[in-house]
Amino acid sequence: REELLFSYKGILYPVTVCSPEVFRAMESLEARTDDVILAGYPKSGTNWVGQILTDLVATFEKKNQDEENSVNEEELQEFPYLEVGDIEKYERMNKLPSRRVIFTHLLPDNLPRSVFKNKAKILLLIRNPKDVATSFYHFSNGLSLLPSYETWDDFFIAFMTGKMPWGSYFNYLSEWNKHVDDENIMTITYEELKENRALGVKNIAAFFGISLTEEELQSVVEKSSFQSMKENSPKTHGAMGSILFRKGGVSDWKNLFNEDQNQEMDKAFEEHIAGTKLGTKLKYEVYCR
Ligand code: A3P
Repeated sequence: REELLFSYKGILYPVTVCSPEVFRAMESLEARTDDVILAGYPKSGTNWVGQILTDLVATFEKKNQDEENSVNEEELQEFPYLEVGDIEKYERMNKLPSRRVIFTHLLPDNLPRSVFKNKAKILLLIRNPKDVATSFYHFSNGLSLLPSYETWDDFFIAFMTGKMPWGSYFNYLSEWNKHVDDENIMTITYEELKENRALGVKNIAAFFGISLTEEELQSVVEKSSFQSMKENSPKTHGAMGSILFRKGGVSDWKNLFNEDQNQEMDKAFEEHIAGTKLGTKLKYEVYCR
């Protein structure tokens, strides 16, 4: 299992998608005030909110672009995950026109310094730790790019000790919690988006200064339903789609956690995040008990 991971600045990453060279090259990214950055721990709903952001930006750009300056979208594609690519990726990104949509699972301190310096806007996506662990377990065992686990119990130990691709969930939340009050950061939870997608989409658009009509917003809402994303996934995600769009709900953790694991998670949550603003936003009492 360890063979598939390497450590960079104390955090583990999969060798199949990341490398120290690319991490070093990343520092040359010149972040912009109008960048649309999505930050979230793996399995928090990155692809979901990523679809919403990409659709919002594309709809807005299309509307505001005159024909003469219209650009060939194909040429402007870069894989949206900041830390996944080749060493020339950041030079190419520096040449892309605004607005750029960027996803990342990195800790704030591991982002290129220009992100905070230039006040790029960041949407921070969080999800309750029990469903994140559940989703991560199934994903790890479904995808050969990531280490797999013989049993859920094995996975649970790795999750709780942070010996995971992209590091510890608890550390991730504690580190990002230091930035919750930054004016350029907005936080959204998977669970609130699940409860009211229309409101979530509206709030996200407002935060990024993307003004669209009710109809245009409604179209973004419809295209981001679990059903519609799952159906469209052979086109958007290829074979990975069937693994990624698994259940798309809340509380599936109840099918995996035993009583001891429940208590251990509750204790860790209490210790590391319960007292933080992000901890409060997660509504742990509602979704994890
Ligand atoms: P489950 O494994 O619990 O089903 P990420 O994109 O960060 O890897 O997160 C993947 C999780 O987001 C998966 O959770 C997936 O089903 C869920 N997801 C993806 N699209 C979604 C949607 N449109 N609505 C709700 N959940 C979605």
